[in-house]
Amino acid sequence: MLYNNKQSTLFGEKNAEQEYLELLSKRYTFPEAIDVLDEIDWDFKDFTTQYLTHRFHSYPARFIPQIPLTFIKLFIDEGDTVLDPFCGCGTTVVESFLNNRNSIGNDFNPLAVLISKVKTTLIDETEFRYLNRKLSVMKRYLDLDYKRVEDRAEHLPNRKISKIFNRAIISKLEAIRETLLEVKEEGHDDVYDLGRAALSSTIWALVENGNGIDVDNIFLRKVNSMREGLKETTKIVKDIPDVRVINGDSRRLDVETDSVDLVVTSPPYVNALDYYRAHTYNMLWLGMDFDLFRKHEIGGHSHFIANRFRLLSEYLGDMLRSMIEMNRVLKRDKLCIIVVGNSSLEYELIESHRFFAEMARYIGFEPIKTIHRNIDKTKKYTSADVGKIDDEYILVMQKTEDAGVTADNDTFISEIVTEQMVNFREQIKKVQGTSIRGRRPTKERLLKNIERISGAIETIPQDIRIKVRRCAETMR
Ligand SMILES: C[S@@+](CC[C@H](N)C(=O)[O-])C[C@H]1O[C@@H](n2cnc3c(N)ncnc32)[C@H](O)[C@@H]1O
Repeated sequence: MLYNNKQSTLFGEKNAEQEYLELLSKRYTFPEAIDVLDEIDWDFKDFTTQYLTHRFHSYPARFIPQIPLTFIKLFIDEGDTVLDPFCGCGTTVVESFLNNRNSIGNDFNPLAVLISKVKTTLIDETEFRYLNRKLSVMKRYLDLDYKRVEDRAEHLPNRKISKIFNRAIISKLEAIRETLLEVKEEGHDDVYDLGRAALSSTIWALVENGNGIDVDNIFLRKVNSMREGLKETTKIVKDIPDVRVINGDSRRLDVETDSVDLVVTSPPYVNALDYYRAHTYNMLWLGMDFDLFRKHEIGGHSHFIANRFRLLSEYLGDMLRSMIEMNRVLKRDKLCIIVVGNSSLEYELIESHRFFAEMARYIGFEPIKTIHRNIDKTKKYTSADVGKIDDEYILVMQKTEDAGVTADNDTFISEIVTEQMVNFREQIKKVQGTSIRGRRPTKERLLKNIERISGAIETIPQDIRIKVRRCAETMR
């Protein structure tokens, strides 16, 4: 059993969640497992999603654990390896960990890497006792006279920090940060990382809910609840599977060829959300390089402001490279699952899953099916351009052969993206503008969009080029 699901209905019947877990617990042949996908109600309405270490840290546009869990249970065995090249806060690696599968998580966002690692690192109680001693000393000091710590706020490295937090809060956060640095100097790396994830979660709570003087208590409560989450996880995970979390680029994965049994991932959306912006304050406090991440972030808002369709060709190029890499590391006949919602650019609907399914055929993947799911109203992702994203698509593909091309082949990437952009322009002409949520472009905007797309097609060879080179750094 994955987690305690004790609720049952009045007459002792099984509830939807129990039935789902029972369905997953049986063994199936590959074709049977493919059919089981049709028996599942993918909306997972009212299912528990924030259990065990999943609740450690908020993360924008994370997917629900039931998505990776379903594919892990139906398609691979214990001891096999799962990869998520855009692992975010680690939903796929946590589910692999809980179900005795080895996993590799990869993300360019160093905060995502930290969270994923902390969620899958079991920590001994003696380490927590050590951490609590350090934190009690800090707390006594803060309760006596936290204002003295204020002096330190003057010497903070980056003045941007002080714009949203008041001085009292800054001084308390600084005291937490200094205590954690002592923990690191004294060689307690795992609780140091856990403390940093708790500090980041505290900062997130402050940014989301406004200022609160109580930051030290919020932080201490967070550390305690993380300790509880890991304790519960320890009871479930007996043979600890391998987990590797990489701070790297999905377009050149630091993963061996033909070594992975399943890929489950949700890539960034085009134009929907800037992770570097969402995490600026967390990253600043943790001393992480958000500027480097901004440059490598796929789909980011801030690129190509003048012609948004250049952002689309850049995005398609980046995703094609990432899919070639997914193909390279996957073993033959294994599945690659990509979860993505629709986006919009200049009022035109962008159905990313269709672009990905088309690309798939050029690079050795066979699309098997596309599952549509509604997102629970409490778990919708918000995007500046699309508003609430209330549904998404799960693209199920099988690796039938090697891609026969490498991810750094600019000529190939340019050719495929050009073909896709030309088709996109023709489609828009044919239907006189696509629409999202009934917001169709006006006639004038439609003509302008067609002109913009033609402009974007001209610059594809330069727009799809990867901007800066950087080596992946492995955290574990
Ligand atoms: C939709 S989120 C993934 C959420 C994840 N499924 C979860 O449950 O937390 C997309 C992720 O892609 C990451 N990303 C963006 N550009 C990247 C790149 N070039 N290489 C690797 N990861 C990248 C972002 O940092 C973000 O964490």
